[in-house]
Amino acid sequence: MSLCYLNGRYLPLGEASVSPMDRGFLFGDGAYEVIPVYSRRAFRLDAHIERLGNTLAAIRLPNPHSAAEWSAIIGEVVDRNPWDDQSVYLQVTRGASAIRSHAFPQVVRPTVFVMSEALVTPPAAQRETGVACVSAADFRWLRCDLKTVALLANCLLRQHAVDQGCAETVLFRDGFLTEGAASNIFMVKDGVLIAPPKSHLMLPGITYDVVLELAARHQLPHVVREILEDEVRNADELWLTSSTKEVLPITTLDGRAVGSGQPGPLARQMHGWYQDFKNTVMRGG
Ligand code: PDD
Repeated sequence: MSLCYLNGRYLPLGEASVSPMDRGFLFGDGAYEVIPVYSRRAFRLDAHIERLGNTLAAIRLPNPHSAAEWSAIIGEVVDRNPWDDQSVYLQVTRGASAIRSHAFPQVVRPTVFVMSEALVTPPAAQRETGVACVSAADFRWLRCDLKTVALLANCLLRQHAVDQGCAETVLFRDGFLTEGAASNIFMVKDGVLIAPPKSHLMLPGITYDVVLELAARHQLPHVVREILEDEVRNADELWLTSSTKEVLPITTLDGRAVGSGQPGPLARQMHGWYQDFKNTVMRGG
């Protein structure tokens, strides 16, 4: 059984428990992060900790740990688990209180939970074919930039894809692309990589940043701007990105081929750069 961290203790996951009065359980009142770990080293840990800090500040929950403390806890969880490549999940909620009340308790004792799983990235066969996606209206709230545990809308939207045998739901709001139910979306048109700008309507993905950095480093023409739904439906390539999916080509959208219907050349190129970067920076060559 995997080892986790809960409120100062390291213990087997099956022995960890929190109160049913925890506000994470009652209200979805908390923040989370998912951090990929390669060869036992957390990828872009500083950026994940910074994003966690931004979410906590926005939901007015004091950060219970300094960056150094977070790093130590995560390092310990990684060390105590058996896999070299892991997906670390961390969550901070506004804790439990004696009564159920929407307003914050006067004294907050946050619940801090960190667990880890084996990192499962998309298999090579899926990369070769790409994945099928569907689209839906983005009916989430207006703070999609915050990584909160209140994910019911995202769960419904992801299940919408799964019900149709698809990998992800691509979201549009008011005629513009926002992101996926649990990923960011990029498009390619005429050799140019195009990404929607960060705003309150999408999560600022760590992988999104890495992809744009790699595009700049390799002089791949790229632009960050609003993307119309119509452009997405006429894209040469579409990709989804996240910490666990990395860079994955989308080859059909709502049953229609994206571009040639095969993973495009830029997706292959970016995947290669991403793997090189990961192996050099994370695994030490
Ligand atoms: N989700 N947008 C949404 C809505 C997400 O949930 C995620 C990641 C991303 C990509 O962010 P990043 O590149 O930092 O992983 C974008 C994680 C993996 C999850 O909830 O499991």
